[in-house]
This record gives sequence, structure tokens and C-alpha cells, in this order.
Amino acid sequence: MSQPRKILVTSALPYVNGSPHMGHLVEYIQTDIWVRFQKLRGHDCIYVCASDAHGTPIMLKARELGISPEALTEGYTAEFVNDFADFGIEFDNFHTTHSSENEALVCEMFAALRNTGDIYTKTIEQAYDEKEGMFLPDRFVRGTCPFCKAEDQYGDACENCSKTYTPADLIDPVSVVSGTPPVTRESEHYFFKLSEYGDRLRQWMSDATLDRNVVAKLEEWFESGLQDWDISRDAPYFGFRIPGTEDKFFYVWLDAPVGYPASFRNLCDRRDDLDFDSYWRPGSDAELYHFIGKDIMYFHTLFWPAVLQGSGFRTPTSVFAHGFLTVDGQKMSKSRGTFIKARTYLDNLDPNFLRYYYAAKLGPTIEDIDLNLEDFVARVNSDLIGKLINIASRCAGFVSKRFDGKLSASLPDASLFADFADASDAIAAHYERREFSKAMRLVMALADKANRYIDDNKPWVMIKDDARLNDVQLVCTQGLNMFRSLMIFLSPVIPVVADKAREFLDEDSWHWRDASAPLLGTTVRKFKPLLTRVETAQVDRMVEQSKESTPVSETEEEFISIEDFMKVDLRIARIENAEPVDGADKLLALTLDMGDSHRQVFAGIKAAYDPENLVGRHVIVVANLTPRKMRFGVSEGMVLAAGPGGEEIFLLSADDGAKPGMRVK
Ligand code: MSP
Ligand code: ZN
Repeated sequence: MSQPRKILVTSALPYVNGSPHMGHLVEYIQTDIWVRFQKLRGHDCIYVCASDAHGTPIMLKARELGISPEALTEGYTAEFVNDFADFGIEFDNFHTTHSSENEALVCEMFAALRNTGDIYTKTIEQAYDEKEGMFLPDRFVRGTCPFCKAEDQYGDACENCSKTYTPADLIDPVSVVSGTPPVTRESEHYFFKLSEYGDRLRQWMSDATLDRNVVAKLEEWFESGLQDWDISRDAPYFGFRIPGTEDKFFYVWLDAPVGYPASFRNLCDRRDDLDFDSYWRPGSDAELYHFIGKDIMYFHTLFWPAVLQGSGFRTPTSVFAHGFLTVDGQKMSKSRGTFIKARTYLDNLDPNFLRYYYAAKLGPTIEDIDLNLEDFVARVNSDLIGKLINIASRCAGFVSKRFDGKLSASLPDASLFADFADASDAIAAHYERREFSKAMRLVMALADKANRYIDDNKPWVMIKDDARLNDVQLVCTQGLNMFRSLMIFLSPVIPVVADKAREFLDEDSWHWRDASAPLLGTTVRKFKPLLTRVETAQVDRMVEQSKESTPVSETEEEFISIEDFMKVDLRIARIENAEPVDGADKLLALTLDMGDSHRQVFAGIKAAYDPENLVGRHVIVVANLTPRKMRFGVSEGMVLAAGPGGEEIFLLSADDGAKPGMRVK
């Protein structure tokens, strides 16, 4: 085999002033799939990220909540870290830009650029809020557009007529922070001489084999002329103080990308086998790739390569930009319930489904990708359950029941298996070029082939004929091997499912090349279902919850008034009957005696309770919940329970003389 490549990969560093959502996931899932693919191919691939913790919005939000910016960003960082982990996104390191490593690197770069004269100071005029004692970023001034007279526009551009201007041009401007009219004040700022980097950036652009659309954008920017870049902000600011100043800070977008090498340096401190300079200094033998969204191309294809080049670092091998997520063809919307948080998805659906769906849609361009919820259900069920998992479930039972799990020693149709092995290079090439949708199409075409083979051979018919038992083992061995190859191909996309499949096949680890060599004569373990179908109801519920969970403001989310609480009618009920619901693996249908009436309520407690043990039990019920129509019938209330979920969910009981119909106080 050829030498393993040395690859360092990053995803953009998320702003930690809100929760992760489905849009973010496009990027982190895309990157994770690519990284897992490289690792599976045996390359030394490292994936680092961090939270982007600085800047005015974070400072102001923390102030509004009465907490420190550190506390605010740590809270959201924890959300990102947990949600990413639950989506199977595996970083080698997740750090923060508010770190000593980052500060040291930013200061090193700043000093180097100061030395060469690429950073200079200039006095500028800026909007200033006298009441708050702070300079205002353009977006923190609003007023009437000087061109079309539309009211309440941002200080940098009009959303109505799209014209750009400065806050000073606005008619009747006000500070968003204090509501008072801002004044204009002078301040000394630091500028980076981007204007002198045109030739070097053109050179970098042609070396970096960027996507055609990214090149087009860059050409546009070169055309209109590169402007020097303001890299400082006045106090108060949440960021790093510029050395040698009292009240100047580095602009968040200067230290944000430095978070890439800073996170890597933090990793180096823990891993002896990694050498920072061999990844980040000129002459490095490593490949360096940044995955980003199309909205932050300017920073990654102009400022960042220029800053690196000017300050004694290597430049990225390439920058991979993706498009934006739309849901059902439209921008994510809180009122439609399509602004879906990562956690809300996880509460309702299997993360592997989203990983597969995104993979099936993603390509290497900056075209937007659409999550169509109806298509999502159909696609996942038909491809993953109907095609892929089906291959295994049609073969595994016979092998374990009739042959003690033993696979035959040869394949009955070696040439069919060769089709799978031969596809390996094409699928790998698609992954490498981030043509994930093309890779998924090839894999699913092979899955169709495998199913056709099983249909043609009908092991379920052969099994009835003792003389053909041997053939059943052969056909199922063929089927399971095709399944295995496909699972190896898909393991970067659905890693958790692939792990379970590998355990079923009783193998310790997989390498990409294993897909081309069949598994013969070994014993497989008992087959457990790898995935269950998605139900439309799960998606509906996720959308419903996304509508509810939209707070008007963060503070209003935390408390409800006593009046709100008094509206909840809590009652004692006696469970008269409990039974499973066809087609819903988590639900029980409960018939409740409410004292003066009977009701049907569906409760998601099947994993925790046997229906027969529930009959006769007193529970607490929300009696005045609007009845909800579900696929199985109408649910007329909600039974209260506590716990993390699954088997650990505990009904709140009310005994000691409680009677159906009693109010709970
Ligand atoms: N903090 C900056 C990045 C600094 S990188 C040195 C930032 N953060 S972000 O949280 O707003 O976005 C993080 C990444 O997620 C970006 O690459 C962004 O393009 C991507 N996405 C955020 N919302 C998205 C969609 N709705 N759709 C697709 N990607 C999106 O930008
Ligand atoms: Zn306008």
C-alpha cells in the first residue's frame, strides 16, 4: 500500500451564543464523514474544532443574562459537545478560542505582521453609544435607510433595497444596546494590509484546487479590489487585548481561525506523536483542509491565507465550502417549526438517519441542500431499511438457526461479489471528492443487486427441501458478504449501524480494503435488528416540539408564571387497561378511569413497564391538555412520569387513599 497521508481537517468553529441546529449539522456531519473515510483508508487524519467564544454579540448576550461571557460560552459549548457526540461526530480535539494557546498564537502572528509593516494604525470614525460607553458595530445601529427610506434597517445595509452604507448615513439612527441616538467618535484602529496580498492570494487560489463557485467568488473580490482589514475593536470587548494597548482588542474574526492551529497545539500537548510545526509551518508535509459554509468564504479564502502567509505559517491545501440548509424548500423558520435544534431531532429520531440523508444530498459545491421532511422519511425507510438492512435480515436468521451461525467456505457466485469489490475504487473516489450523493447512489445500486440475488434464489423456499440445505448456507453467505461490503462502504456515514453489523459478523475492525475480500468459514453472532423504520409521527412530533420550544427571549423560557401553572389541571386517574400499540414500539395505550369519565391516553413508557403490571395503578394526569390526534387514535391527556427515558422512566404514582378524579395540588 502507498504511504499513509498526513491530513489535518477542521470544521468552522461554531459561535457559542445559541444551541446547535440542523443547519450546523450539515457541516459537521459532512466533515465527519470525510474524516472517517480517510481514517478507514488508513490515513493519518486528524479532525480538530473549537468553540468561537469572542465578540460583541456574546458579550452583550451575557450581559443581558447577568452572567459572565465565559459562563455563557461554556454552557453552549457543552451543548455543542454533547450534541455532536450524539450525532457520532468524532473530533480528535474540541477546544475553544478563549484559550491560552490561541492567545499566544494570535500575539505571535500580530507581532510578525507588525514587524513586516503589514499591520498599521489609522484613526477612524465610528458610531458610539454614550449611554453605554461603547463603540457600536454596524449591526448594532438601526435607523431609516437613506436610499429607500425603509424604517428600522441595520447600520451596514438595507434589507429592503439591498444598498450598503455606514451607520452615519442612516436617518434617525439609534443604538440597539441603549435605544439612544449614537454620536460619531474617533478611535485609533489596527489594519491588516490585505491590499498587498493580491498576487500571493491569486497564486494560492490556483494551487488550492477550489470549487468552481468559490473561484468565481474570489475573482469577483479581486475584481472589485482588496481592501485593508480592520482587525481591532475598542473596549469593552470580549476577546484578547492587543499587546501594548490599554483598551484595544483583537477583532473576533482575527482570532477565530487561529483557533484551528490553537486547537491542534492543545492536542499536541497531549500527544507525543504530533509535532505542531510539521503541520503548520512552511514546508509542512501535511495536507490541511478547512470545511466551511459559503457565508464565511471571504474570511477563509482571503484574510486567513494572507495572515498565515505573512506571519510565518503554511497556507491551507484547500478550503471546502458547502451551501446552506433549507427545510421543505424554505429557510428554517421558528414559526413553521422547521428551525430544529440538534437536541430536538435526537429526542425523536435516530442520528444515523440524518447522517445518511445529508450524505445522499451532499456534493462538493456551494449549492444549498434541502431537507424535505416527507422525502426524508421515504428515503431513509426505502434505502436503509428496505434495501440495506433487508439483505441481512433475509439471510441472518437461516444462518444462525440452521447452521449455528457458520458461513460457508466459499461463495456460490464469486463474479457477483467481484462487482462489489470492483466498485470499491469508484466509491472511494466519490468520497474523496466529497461527491457523497454519488457514492450513496452507487452503494444503493449494489444493494438492489444483492436483493435481486436473494429474490432469485429464494432461500425461504429452498430451506423446505433438505436436499438443498447446503445451497441455503451458500446463498446466505453470499448475501451476508454483499451486506458486509456495503456496510464497510457506508461506515463513514452510519458508523453506529456499521459497528453493530461488524459485531454481528464477529470482526474486530474494518479497513476499506476489507470490503473487497469475502468473509468465509467463520461464525457470525446472533442477529439483532440494526435499525427500525422512521414513522411520520416521529417527524411530526419533532416539528411540533420545534414550534413549542421557540422562546420569545431566553429569559421568558426559564420561568412560567403562577397563573400559567394554575392552568394545568392535574388529576388522579386509575389505569383500567394497558396494551401495546400496533406499529409504535415505544407506546402503550392506556384506558384511564378519571372518576367521572374514561379516557384514552398514549404514553411512551413501553420500554419501562409491562402492561399487565400497570392495571389498577393510580397515576397523575394532565387532564386539560388539548386532545391530540395521533396515527393510532386520539390521546386525551398526558400521564406524568420522570426519568431520562427508555427503560428508566418512572410513573409518578399517587396512592395513600387517592381516588380517581381527585385534583392534585
Ligand atoms: N464562528 C463562525 C466561524 C468561525 S471559523 C474560524 C461561524 N459560526 S456559526 O456558528 O455561525 O456557523 C458555524 C458553521 O455552520 C459555518 O460554517 C456556517 O456556515 C455553518 N452553518 C450555520 N448555519 C447553517 C445553515 N443553516 N446551513 C448550513 N450551514 C450552516 O460562522
Ligand atoms: Zn433601503
